[in-house]
Amino acid sequence: MYSIKELDLQGKRVLVRVDFNVPLDEHQNITDDTRIKAVLPTLQYILDHQGRLVIMSHMGRPKGKAVDKLSLAPVAKRLGRLLEQEVVMAEDSIGDDVEKQVNGLEDGQVILLENLRFYPGEEANDPDFARQLAALGDVYINDAFAVCHRAHASVEAIVSHFPETAAGFLLLKELKYFKDAMEKPRRPFVAIIGGAKVSSKFGALENMLPRVNKFIIGGAMANSFLKSMGFAVGRSKVEEDLVEAAGALRQRALREGVKFYLPVDAVVAPEPGPNVETKIVPIQEIPENWMALDIGPATSRLFDEALYNAKTIVWNGPMGMFEIDAFSRGTISMVYSVADSYALSIVGGGDTDVAIHSTGQTDRISYISTGGGAFLRLLEGKPLPGVQALGGLEIHE
Ligand code: 3PG
Repeated sequence: MYSIKELDLQGKRVLVRVDFNVPLDEHQNITDDTRIKAVLPTLQYILDHQGRLVIMSHMGRPKGKAVDKLSLAPVAKRLGRLLEQEVVMAEDSIGDDVEKQVNGLEDGQVILLENLRFYPGEEANDPDFARQLAALGDVYINDAFAVCHRAHASVEAIVSHFPETAAGFLLLKELKYFKDAMEKPRRPFVAIIGGAKVSSKFGALENMLPRVNKFIIGGAMANSFLKSMGFAVGRSKVEEDLVEAAGALRQRALREGVKFYLPVDAVVAPEPGPNVETKIVPIQEIPENWMALDIGPATSRLFDEALYNAKTIVWNGPMGMFEIDAFSRGTISMVYSVADSYALSIVGGGDTDVAIHSTGQTDRISYISTGGGAFLRLLEGKPLPGVQALGGLEIHE
């Protein structure tokens, strides 16, 4: 893939795919504009080089129909404020009217197309929808790391229409940090993997096993590992069909010299909820009808010690049900352990990002990925369709 710096942008209609899938409250106010700010360097670069900026994005999952509350209009407003210039909000993403608007742009002007997923052709990777989008640009730039794992029309099918394509600065940065960590990590290299389901992280665990020195496992997915070791985990969430495989993976890790850290205590409750009775128990003593919903303080100390000498840390997934205050301490404590370390620390995944932002520790983490699914797919060692379409991971600068 080529860098945006290789392209001549002056006077051209520069069609840029970004990921403005940002959280909105019930009044359509943006509650977190991290993803908008993350692509400002690319957008500003295009404007500084007298490109005519045509921006495409999706928002939410409207399932191929126009849904007012998933309009990108609030994003156009916020982006205008951040760029300190007018951002025209298009009423549609394809069609004659939009084409006229785009062709009327002058150098240095900006238009944001309406939510691409209002058309079923976007998610279907439909060549005709891709062709209609491609008619709106002379060059194509992908700066939408967070949606690069989707083979969608604006990410994949569109690319064949352009002789000149490139990656924006955000996509380049995401891939560079990932490659630094995975291909030439400074050691010890520690992977912290959490979250609810072992099934969704199994591929990442298998792919990382030969690369890391330590695994730290938290979140409900730890229960399947604990069960495989013979611990009674009460009513905690367990994926029964994966218990055996989890045990085998742990054994393999140990055989290959990878240290494997699991919770030694837990915050338990009869059920998840904001006002339920909770207690902290050793992992051997989870009561029969209770559930483990967060790691306990002894586990936080253990994990902190395991991170002490780390030189590279990759973290995906929370340590417990952190969206509920009573079960958030394990994840918050992990944020501080990672932030306090001297390692190159790379964190990805929506929930994990929210935890870091809530603690104000963002500047003390080396890199926070804007991707959830895309980041996980990289950890699984699988190619990203959006990156493949641009020519693969190798960057020509
Ligand atoms: C994300 O938020 O992870 C991306 O915008 C992709 O969204 P999707 O999971 O709806 O495809």
